[in-house]
Amino acid sequence: MRVLVPVLTKNAIDKKVAEVARKISDDYKGKDLVLVGILKGAFVFMSDLMRCLTVPVKLDFVCASSYGTGTTTSGNIKLTKELGLDIKGKDVLIIEDIVDTGLTLAYIIDYLESFGPASVKVCALLDKRERRKAEIKIDYSCHVVGEGFLVGYGLDYAEEYRNLPEIYHLKL
Ligand code: IMP
Ligand code: MG
Repeated sequence: MRVLVPVLTKNAIDKKVAEVARKISDDYKGKDLVLVGILKGAFVFMSDLMRCLTVPVKLDFVCASSYGTGTTTSGNIKLTKELGLDIKGKDVLIIEDIVDTGLTLAYIIDYLESFGPASVKVCALLDKRERRKAEIKIDYSCHVVGEGFLVGYGLDYAEEYRNLPEIYHLKL
């Protein structure tokens, strides 16, 4: 039986998103900011975050897949949608839903660096540190979470639960 245990309420999520958006707005004043969201999981977070920003911003997405239908990354990352915008000389901020092993982000940072941006930084809604394999600097993070598989607010298990407004621990 699957059980959903509440982890973060909408109110807790919204407060942190607004706080991180204020920091990003301060840090990127006068810069050429491009947000690059990692699909599919980051789209809910990104849509809330970008509407709290007070600096001009452009958006793009890449789609990374590595999971299949399980709960651990295979480490074999594939891009099923590549970058569309020209980011040469731009300040890129990657928007990710959750960093677990860090392998997805390490791959995407390398991929984006190859286009010659002025900077590449990372903003993640959730930082799950226990299984980290790649040393990733998360420049802006909203919540540090413990072990366990989380769903809701864009995060899925086998494509389900993305539409839940709050974040839950899925017990299988
Ligand atoms: P990593 O490569 O192990 O850091 O995995 C990162 C990707 O796996 C994220 O972009 C998520 O889409 C997915 N992921 C990792 N942990 C979870 C989780 O607890 N729930 C849902 N998706 C997760
Ligand atoms: Mg993801």
